[in-house]
Amino acid sequence: MATVRLENLTKKYGENTVLDGISLEIPEGTLVSLLGPSGCGKTTTLRLIAGFEQADGGDIYIDNQRVNDIKVHQRNIGMVFQSYALFPHMTVWDNVAYGLKQRKLSKKEIDSRVKDVLKLVQLEGYEARKPKQLSGGQQQRVALARALVIQPKILLLDESLSALDKKLRVEMQVELRRILDASGITALFVTHDQEEALTLSDYIVVMDRGTIVQVGKPYEVYEAPKNRFVASFLGKSNFFEGVIKEKNDIVIILETSFGEMPLATSSPREVGEAALYSIRPEKIKLEATDKNSAAESISGVVKFVTYAGNISSYTIDCNGLQVIAESQNAVGEFQFKEGDLVFLCWEPQFCLLMEDEVKK
Ligand SMILES: Nc1ncnc2c1ncn2[C@@H]1O[C@H](COP(=O)(O)OP(=O)(O)O)[C@@H](O)[C@H]1O
Ligand SMILES: [Mg+2]
Repeated sequence: MATVRLENLTKKYGENTVLDGISLEIPEGTLVSLLGPSGCGKTTTLRLIAGFEQADGGDIYIDNQRVNDIKVHQRNIGMVFQSYALFPHMTVWDNVAYGLKQRKLSKKEIDSRVKDVLKLVQLEGYEARKPKQLSGGQQQRVALARALVIQPKILLLDESLSALDKKLRVEMQVELRRILDASGITALFVTHDQEEALTLSDYIVVMDRGTIVQVGKPYEVYEAPKNRFVASFLGKSNFFEGVIKEKNDIVIILETSFGEMPLATSSPREVGEAALYSIRPEKIKLEATDKNSAAESISGVVKFVTYAGNISSYTIDCNGLQVIAESQNAVGEFQFKEGDLVFLCWEPQFCLLMEDEVKK
């Protein structure tokens, strides 16, 4: 097991700053996901850690040893890419054994390690097959076995499950977690799939344009996004922007371009200050009547309803602002339809103040 530490890492391609001084610590034996839109620098971060690219500034430490000048094959890192890059003419066994033969290990050692790792990824009995005789998920497991067999201290996975269809991807996520837990390897996983990051990771690192925006456990990053970017990239959010007009123990009245909005929230901002709030669609409860006797409520008209099996999503027009609310389609629960007047309710702690600078 190993820790990885990045300190103020910078990478440029020509004039283009791709990583702008990122610092990050990946604790021993954890699975950390880099999550962010295409082009934000995820692959570049992995390539720097693996040693395929040189940093323009900053340091990379593995187990407190600075590795900036250490060659790729001496860093003891396994890497699995999106395209599995298996050798098509070689059998599963030979694909997995390849790295060990290159390292000139004894036949006995190679046999024992390949056998163990194929057992770990549950591919016993597939040794003699060629990649094209395997399903996508099985090929993915061969690629994983090939990375694991060299007994790396660190495993880097770049969109490794993205090519699989949804059902298989979910199965492989569970499988990957089991394999990593069993081997105790420290893993850095790149994905642009938020659901994958939430289910798989010990920690999520949200990146945007070469910077790290937020790091936390999955529920921390989801339940307490620090700004608009995180709140909208990871899951869905509604945003309320304006100037605080009134404030009491129960609500604040936010003056917005869609009129005055009574928001149930606890807010450190004072009257007269501009602020941006967010709330997740599933935290909004819709009521047919105004249940809020203590304060005004936001009301609106259901514009459209999207049925998605387990949940329904309601788009509600609140004086011109479109608000999304989601509810579970539990048996017997009242469903709203287009044109219905609804009242929006939520617990104050779910309406979050964003750190973004807001102009008055
Ligand atoms: N070899 C390269 N030469 C020039 N620009 C590159 C190179 N590799 C990546 N980039 C640029 O760096 C940025 C980050 O790329 P990358 O790390 O691959 O993003 P991500 O993996 O998050 O999608 C992109 O704008 C990309 O075009
Ligand atoms: Mg990439």
